[in-house]
Amino acid sequence: MAEVVRLTKVGKVGVIAVDNPPVNALSAAVREGLLAKLHSALAEPSIQALVLLGAGRTFIAGADIREFDSFDSSGGPDLNEINAAYETSPKPIVAAIHGTALGGGLEIALACHYRVGLARAQVGLPEVKLGLLPGAGGTQRLPRLIGAAAALPLIARGNFVPGPKAKELGILDQLIEGDVQAGAVSFAEELVARNAPLKRIRDLAAKAEPRLFADFRKEMAREAKGFFAPWKCIDCVELTTTTPFDEGLRRERALFRECLASKQAKAQIHVFFAEREVAKIPDVPRDTPVQPFAKAAVVGAGTMGGGIAMCFANAGIPVTVLEVNREALERGLAVVARNYAGTVARGRLTQAEMDRRMALIQGTTDYAALADADFLIEAVFEEMEIKREVFRRLGQVAKPTAILASNTSTLDIDAMAAESGRPRQFIGTHFFSPANVMRLLEVVRGAQSSRATIATAMELGRKLGKVAVLVGNCDGFVGNRMLAPYVREAEFLLEEGALPQQIDKVFVEFGLAMGPFTMGDLAGVDVGWRIEKRRRQTRSKNLRTSYLVDKIAERGRHGQKTGAGWYRYESGSRQPLPDPEVERIVVEHAREIGLARRPISDEEIFKRCFYPLINEGVKCLEEGMAIRASDIDIIYVNGYGMPAYLGGPMWQAEVIGLRAIHDDIRRFQDRHGGYWEPAGLLSELAASSGRLRDWRR
Ligand code: 3HC
Ligand code: NAI
Repeated sequence: MAEVVRLTKVGKVGVIAVDNPPVNALSAAVREGLLAKLHSALAEPSIQALVLLGAGRTFIAGADIREFDSFDSSGGPDLNEINAAYETSPKPIVAAIHGTALGGGLEIALACHYRVGLARAQVGLPEVKLGLLPGAGGTQRLPRLIGAAAALPLIARGNFVPGPKAKELGILDQLIEGDVQAGAVSFAEELVARNAPLKRIRDLAAKAEPRLFADFRKEMAREAKGFFAPWKCIDCVELTTTTPFDEGLRRERALFRECLASKQAKAQIHVFFAEREVAKIPDVPRDTPVQPFAKAAVVGAGTMGGGIAMCFANAGIPVTVLEVNREALERGLAVVARNYAGTVARGRLTQAEMDRRMALIQGTTDYAALADADFLIEAVFEEMEIKREVFRRLGQVAKPTAILASNTSTLDIDAMAAESGRPRQFIGTHFFSPANVMRLLEVVRGAQSSRATIATAMELGRKLGKVAVLVGNCDGFVGNRMLAPYVREAEFLLEEGALPQQIDKVFVEFGLAMGPFTMGDLAGVDVGWRIEKRRRQTRSKNLRTSYLVDKIAERGRHGQKTGAGWYRYESGSRQPLPDPEVERIVVEHAREIGLARRPISDEEIFKRCFYPLINEGVKCLEEGMAIRASDIDIIYVNGYGMPAYLGGPMWQAEVIGLRAIHDDIRRFQDRHGGYWEPAGLLSELAASSGRLRDWRR
C-alpha cells in the first residue's frame, strides 16, 4: 500500500508530504506517519530544515471525522503529541498551505515554526460547526499568534479565512506564488541561510482588552442560542489570557471531549455528512451532462419571483422577469431594488455591486423576450389554471433546449409538465421564502423529468448557493407535507385547551426558530387557510377538521402583514404578542363545537405535533418521495429553522427511539383514531430495531 506520509529531500530541505485523499484527513495512519517521518528527518544530518505539505488538491482538512466514534481507540499518536514534537523540533519547520488547512490541519501548521501559503488557499478552525472545539491546541495557539480579539470569531464561528486575509492577520508569514512546494523550500532555505529563530507560538503571550470576552458573548447570544460548542470555544480562548500554555492545552482537551460526547456534536456531524450525501442521486450519476445555463427567466415578480430573480443576479446570471403588466412589473422590481438598498444601507453590499446586480435583472411583459433563456422558472399565483396557461406559452416561446420549472408549493408538477409540451425538460424548483436568503431548494422530480434535467436543476441549486434536495411529486412535496400534520395537531390542541403561545413555547424550547403559530403569522394565515380549504374538498368526512383557522382569517387576521393573526403585533414590530382576543375566539369556538377545554401538558403538545411530522417523513421515505432519511434532515435544517444541533426530524426520531414513537402513535390512535396510523416502515423498523438512516428503498 502507498505510504500516506512521505519524506523526500530537496537539497538541504526535507519535505514531509501527507497523501491521504481526498482531503488528507489526519487518520491514525497519517498521525503515525507524521511522527515517524519527523523522527527520520531529525535523525538525518543532511536535512537542515523541513517543509510540511499536503499532496493532491489540498493541505490537511483536519482530524478524520469518521474516526470520532473511536477517538481514543483509533490507534496512532495523539495530535497534541505530534504538534509538540513539531513545535519543539530543533530544525525549523515550514507549513506550506494550498487548498485548505482546517481544524487539526491548521493546528499542526500552528505547531510549525513558520507558515506560507497560496493566495487562493484557505485556513480555518471549523470544528464548532461540528459541535466541537479545536482540540489540538488551536484555541491556545491561534490567540497567542494573532491576538484573542481576532482569534475569537474565527474559532467561535468557524468561518474560513482566505490566504491574503490570513497573511494580514499574521496566520501566514508569507504568501507564495506558483508551485507551493518550490516556494516553501526556498523560504526554508532562506531561514537556514539567515539562521532564523524557531518561532514557537506556545511561548507567546495572548493579550486581550478586559471587556473583550463579555462583549463577544453578548454579540453571539442570538446566533449561538442553544448551541453548546461556541460557548466552550470562547471559554478556551479566554484561558489563553489567564492560564499557562500547558494547562490551557489540558483544559482545551477536556472541553473537546465534553463536546465530542455531546448529543449536539453527534447531530452536527450527521448534518455534515448528510449535506454531502444529498447531492448523490442513485440513478443520476455524477457525470450526467449538465445543460449550460447562461441566461434565466422568471415569470411572476411577486414575493417569490423577485427573490428568485435576486438569486440569479447574486450568482452573476442574467435574468429576465415577466409580469402581467408594466405596473406589476415595476412594483416587483421596486421591491427587489429596495431589498438590495437595505443590504447596502447595512454595509453588507457596495452600491456598485448593487448596481451590477440590478443591471443583470431585465423586466418584460412580452413572452418573446424569454426566447433566449436556458432555465425558466414560473412563480405566479398558486392557481392551476393560471400556471397551465403560463406553461402553454412558455412551451411555445422557450428555445428547444430550455428547461422549464415551477416554484409551486402544492400543485401537481406533472399536470404542468404535460401542458408545456416538453415533460422531459420539466421540473419543480421549490424555493423557500425569502428566496434570496433561505438555503433550501427542493428540486421536485416529475414523472418524466430526464436525468439531464434533474442534474441541471441540482447544479443550478449549487450555483445559486443553495442546498438542493431532490424530492418526489406529492402534495406539499417533503418539507410542507410533513408540516401539514404538525400544524393540524397544533390547531386541534387549541380546540382542546391550549393557546398559541403555549404551543409555540414548547417548540422554541425544543430549539426550533419559532413555533407553528408564529410561523403561520409569518407565512400568512390566509395562505395556510387557502391550502386547508382546498384539502377539505377531498378529505374524508370521517376525519376531524378544525374550522378555527377560518375564524381567525375571516376577521382579517392574516398574520404579521395585517398586524394581527394568531398573535397581535404593535405597529412596526415583528414581535408576536399573546392576544386576549385570540383566546376569546378559541374558547368560544371550543364551546360551539362542544369540546370541554382541558389543561394540556407540554409533553402532550410535543408528541401530538412532532410525532405526526416524523410519521409523515417516514411515509415520504417509504413512498420514495425522499431518497434517504438524512435528506429530510437537510430539508428541515436548511428550510424550517431546525438548528443543526438537533440533526433534523429523522435524526431526532432515532434519538427519541422509533419504538417509543411508534408506541405513542398507537396510543394516540386509540384515543383520536383517524389520522394516527403509523407508517408501515415505522412499524417495521420499530419491530426489528432497524434504523431509518440505514434504510433504502
Ligand atoms: N474527515 C473525514 N472525511 C472528510 C473530512 C474529514 N475531516 N473532510 C472531508 N471529508 C470527506 C467528505 O465527507 C467527502 O467524502 P465523500 O466524497 O465520501 O462524500 C470528501 O471528503 C470530500 O469532501 P467534500 O465533498 O466536502 O469536498 P470539498 O472539496 O467540497 O470540501 C473541505 C473540502 C473544505 C475540506 C470540506 O470537506 C470540509 O469542510 N471538511 C471538514 C473540515 C473540518 O471540519 N475539519 C475539522 C475536523 S475536526 C478536527 O480537526 C478536530 C481537531 O481539532 C482535534
Ligand atoms: P405573489 O402573489 O407574491 O406573486 C405572484 C405574482 O405573479 C404577482 O406579482 C402576479 O402579478 C404575478 N402573476 C400572476 N399571474 C401571472 C401571469 N399569468 N404571468 C405573469 N405573472 C403573473 O405570490 P408568491 O408568494 O410569490 O408565490 C408565487 C408562487 O410561489 C406560488 O406558486 C406559491 O405557491 C409559490 N411559493 C410561495 C412561497 C411563499 O412563501 N410565498 C414559498 C414557496 C413557494
